[in-house]
Amino acid sequence: DIGNALASEATPGVPEGALDRLDRRVADAHDTIAAGRAASTHGYESLNLPSTVDPEAIRAAVAPFDDCDTLLNVGIGGSALGAATLTDALADDVEAYYLDNVDPEWIEDLLSEIDLESTAVNVVSRSGTTAETLANFLVVREAMDDAGVDWTERTWVTTGEAGNLRNLADQHDLPALDVPDGVPGRFSALSTVGLAAAAFADLDIEAVLAGAGEVADDLSGSLYDTPAYAYGAITYALDVRGAGVNAMMPYAESLETFAEWYAQLSAESLGKDGLGQTPVRALGATDQHSQLQLYRAGPHDKMVTLVRPEERADRAIPETDLEGLSYLGGSTLGDLLDAEFEATEASLAQADLPNVRIEIDEVDERGLGELLYSMEAATILAGELYDVDTFVQPAVEWGKKAARGLLGGGEFEEADAVDQKTELV
Ligand code: PA5
Repeated sequence: DIGNALASEATPGVPEGALDRLDRRVADAHDTIAAGRAASTHGYESLNLPSTVDPEAIRAAVAPFDDCDTLLNVGIGGSALGAATLTDALADDVEAYYLDNVDPEWIEDLLSEIDLESTAVNVVSRSGTTAETLANFLVVREAMDDAGVDWTERTWVTTGEAGNLRNLADQHDLPALDVPDGVPGRFSALSTVGLAAAAFADLDIEAVLAGAGEVADDLSGSLYDTPAYAYGAITYALDVRGAGVNAMMPYAESLETFAEWYAQLSAESLGKDGLGQTPVRALGATDQHSQLQLYRAGPHDKMVTLVRPEERADRAIPETDLEGLSYLGGSTLGDLLDAEFEATEASLAQADLPNVRIEIDEVDERGLGELLYSMEAATILAGELYDVDTFVQPAVEWGKKAARGLLGGGEFEEADAVDQKTELV
C-alpha cells in the first residue's frame, strides 16, 4: 500500500501524475528484465530461480546430516543472509548459527558452547575465495579435529564451479551443492545458497519456491498491477525527491533478519554512481521507543517501510483490575502490536513522512518466498530506474582484495589500498 507515499494537496510525496509517467518507465524496465530472464543474463537469472531450482537435489544433499541438530553455516553477505532470514523466521527443531563475522571472541564462545558431535557444517561461498569464510572454516575444522569429530563426515560445501572451496571439496570428496550461474550472492536466497540451510531445518522449501513463483508469474509491465514493482518504483521516486533513507521496519520478531537481508540487497545493488537509498534496519514495536522520534521529527530525508503478517499466533492479555490498565484486558498481544503498527503509520503520515505498508498472509514458507522474491524484483526494477549496474559490487570486491593483500595473500598491497581509496564508486 503506497497511499501514504503519494502527494495530496496538503502533503508532499510522489504526485499521481509523476507516478503515471514513471509507470511508462516501469513498462520499459519490465521489458529489459523479461529479456534478461529469457536470455538467463547474469543477475536477471535470479528471478528465474522459482522454476530452475531443484528442491529434491537440495533435500538429498542435506539428508546425510539428518542426525545433526545444529548447523554452522559458514559464509558471509549473500552467502549467509538469505538462509538466515528463512531459518531465523521459521526453524524450530534445529539451531542454525551463521558464522559470517570473524570476531575471534564470538567464534571462540560459540565453538565452546555447541556440541560439535551433533553439528553439521555448510561452507558457502560463491567465489570460493572469501577470506572470512575460509578462515572461519579452517577454525571450525580444527575445532572438530580437536573434539575428535571427523569433519569430512560432517561438512558439505555450497560453491561455484571453481575456487579454493571447490578444490577443497574435490580433495576431501565432500558433498557439494552448486551455486547457480547468473545469480549474485545477495540474490541467492531462493537458490541452493539460501535453501540448503532451510532444508536442513526441515522447512518446506517447495512452499518457499511456490510463494516466490506466484509473484514471478504475476510480474507485469505496470506498477499498478505488480506490488513488487510498485515498491521498487516508489522507493526510487521518493529517493529522487529527497527520501535518501529507507527504514525497513517489520512488526514481527521473526522478520528481524529480513530487514538485515533487505539492507544488504538494496545497499549492495543500488549504492553506485552516487545513487541509492541508505537502508536502515528497525523493528516494530521496539524501535517506536527509539528511532521513531527521529523518523517523525528529525530531517525529512526518509521513508519508512512497515511490514507485517496479517495472521499470527496470538496470546491473550490477562484481565486486570489494576487502575488504568483495564483497557488491556480482553485484548491480545497481537491486537496491541497491530495497534502499535497502525499508530506508527498514522503518526508518520500526520508528520508528512512517506511510508509504505507491506503485508504478507503470515510468516510461513510461502509468505517468506513471496516476500523475498518481491523485494528482489523491486530492487532489480529500481536498478533499472536508477540506471545502475545492479548486479556488480566493485566496492565490496575492493575491500575483499585489500584485506587479503594486507595479510600477504594477493597482489593487493597496503600502498595500493591507500592509493585506490578514492577511485572506487
Ligand atoms: O552479494 C554479494 O555478492 C556479496 O555479498 C557476497 O555474497 C559476499 O561477499 C560473499 O561472497 P562469496 O559467496 O563469494 O564468499
